[in-house]
Amino acid sequence: MVGGGTVGGGVYQAIDRNALLIASRTGVLLKIKRIAVKALDEPRSVEIPVSLLTTDWKEVVNDPEVQVVVELVGGTGVAREVILAALEQGKSVVTANKALLASHGEELFKVAQENDAALFYEASVAGGIPLIRSIREGLVCNRFLNISGIVNGTCNYILTQMEALGHGFEEVLKEAQTNGYAEANPALDVEGHDAHHKISILASLAYNAWVAPEKVYREGISSITGLDIQTCKEWGYKLKLLGTVKHISREADVDHIQVRVAPTLIPQTHILASVDGVFNGVSVRGDVVDETFFYGRGAGQDATASATGTTHPNEPDSTGCCASL
Ligand code: NDP
Ligand code: HSE
Repeated sequence: MVGGGTVGGGVYQAIDRNALLIASRTGVLLKIKRIAVKALDEPRSVEIPVSLLTTDWKEVVNDPEVQVVVELVGGTGVAREVILAALEQGKSVVTANKALLASHGEELFKVAQENDAALFYEASVAGGIPLIRSIREGLVCNRFLNISGIVNGTCNYILTQMEALGHGFEEVLKEAQTNGYAEANPALDVEGHDAHHKISILASLAYNAWVAPEKVYREGISSITGLDIQTCKEWGYKLKLLGTVKHISREADVDHIQVRVAPTLIPQTHILASVDGVFNGVSVRGDVVDETFFYGRGAGQDATASATGTTHPNEPDSTGCCASL
């Protein structure tokens, strides 16, 4: 593993707890060989044996005994180098890094395919909800008509606490940071960038074409006030940060879609209005299945660790999901 923070600690803990169970189901006994971190003496919410730690990520990626590299650093700098170095050696990679996938996904999946390696990213969208797998596999016989949902746990937590308790924006944001929901730079959450990354990944996956980030409309929640939320409530609505992929038309075998992230008024009777706190909820509508709805914890240590652990070295090649885009 490269990264032993909120998510890395959760993955370490989950594998420590359930490695034998996973092995009984998959035939693969996962063993964490080494974990690269930035600072050895950083206080950690999950205790990781010092003997596993290194500050040099190359010791992880270049170790011949390491078959799968789990990138949990975040950002688009070192994380990109780690993933490329692993894929170039033909090692499969698991990542939760939606910012990197949204900006460099095309490059990464190409390198994965060239090196016959797999790149798994279930934890990058909607925390613990197995949404990527559902869109890729469970709903494969559908043309997607609409995907809309709450995909940022931090923003949903902030909006919920502001409405329920009347707390101020900054105060609730600090709680979200303490709970491990927010990005290292929380502007990524509250300005809508994180939801934008996730909805771009879902759109790319659903329509087999890389969605250019600059073409996606983005608006965050940083300017929303308690008065806005209370006024919406009086009108019978809840204010949610919603990501949407809408199928507009299909002409000459080409799908036209609209992708956006913006604060949106949801009628209080709609299922999405009941998605509160750190939870995410995503409605996926296909032309065969009609509407399906996915709900679960959208951020935090254990939910993300669960999604990170949904892949194993015997998994069939995952690169087909985006490599052909
Ligand atoms: P943290 O900041 O908690 O952890 C980052 C980890 O990376 C730390 O262990 C840090 O080391 C390590 N690190 C930083 N720079 C380097 C480096 N140069 N070499 C080696 N290690 C390094 O982040 P999170 O765990 O919250 O997030 C990780 C990824 O998961 C991000 O891409 C994020 O977007 C994604 N994600 C996060 C979720 C969440 O709920 N938190 C949910 C879904 C996805 P040290 O510990 O020494 O500081
Ligand atoms: N910061 C992200 C969120 C983490 O709050 O949704 C999960 O991707």
